[in-house]
Amino acid sequence: MKILSKPSELREFIEQKGIKREEIGFVPTMGYLHEGHLSLVRKCRHENSFCVVSIFVNPLQFGPNEDLAAYPRDLDRDKALLEKEGVDLLFVPTEQDMYHPDFSTSVKETRLSRYMCGAFRLGHFDGVCTVVLKLFNIVQPKRAYFGEKDYQQLQVLRRMVRDLNVPVEVVGCPIVRDHDGLALSSRNVYLTKEQRQEALRIPKALEEAERLFKEGERRASVLEAKMREVLSAGKGLKVQYIEIRDADNLEEVEEIKGRVVVALAVYVGKARLIDNKILEG
Ligand code: PAF
Repeated sequence: MKILSKPSELREFIEQKGIKREEIGFVPTMGYLHEGHLSLVRKCRHENSFCVVSIFVNPLQFGPNEDLAAYPRDLDRDKALLEKEGVDLLFVPTEQDMYHPDFSTSVKETRLSRYMCGAFRLGHFDGVCTVVLKLFNIVQPKRAYFGEKDYQQLQVLRRMVRDLNVPVEVVGCPIVRDHDGLALSSRNVYLTKEQRQEALRIPKALEEAERLFKEGERRASVLEAKMREVLSAGKGLKVQYIEIRDADNLEEVEEIKGRVVVALAVYVGKARLIDNKILEG
């Protein structure tokens, strides 16, 4: 596995090897890899002959009071995992490699970013769009892989490539859950044993919504209330939002008809966890 940190070196390497855009699959990450990331890498490897992974904890997508400094990092472990998966190239830029000291340009998606996480993490999706477009310009892949756990991120990025004619196919990959149902996240490392137990109310709340839906309930407010009930019985859980929205344009729905996403963000102690489930009526 080739490891590079400078954008210019990466371009040079790919050009020297004569690797074409059509062959390149790309998995952008912030590291501290888990099985969720590795599922993206495996799909990428399967569908492309040249697989690039990036690890970059992007300061632009963290708010001033968020966990940028505390965000878990373990580059040696990540390298070993990616080597084992047969990744061809790992791109690990520093902040200086990515952002000039007088960097002054950003990409802003203005509709889907207003809701859900975007309403609480101001500027977050600008940071995501900006770094992902930069990474796309550096790596120049044909396909890029993102997890559905960050459902809003996936939809925002799909919208960005559509609106800006970015020649990259955005591929969404299913949420990977631990044996107990908790969605895998690098942030799960913040949880104590007791908090992790309480956090299981998150997938339980989603399952409860799905159960009601399967019984025929179509009122979003009823599903939301049930989920809130499941979560509020937990110790130390603070619900930031529970929302049911159109799965494509993220518009609010009252009566579930087509495909919707049931999404939530919950603080468990200091860890802010998100999860979602797609329901199709
Ligand atoms: O999902 C992530 O890990 C990040 O938001 C991404 C897409 C790598 C951009 O920094």
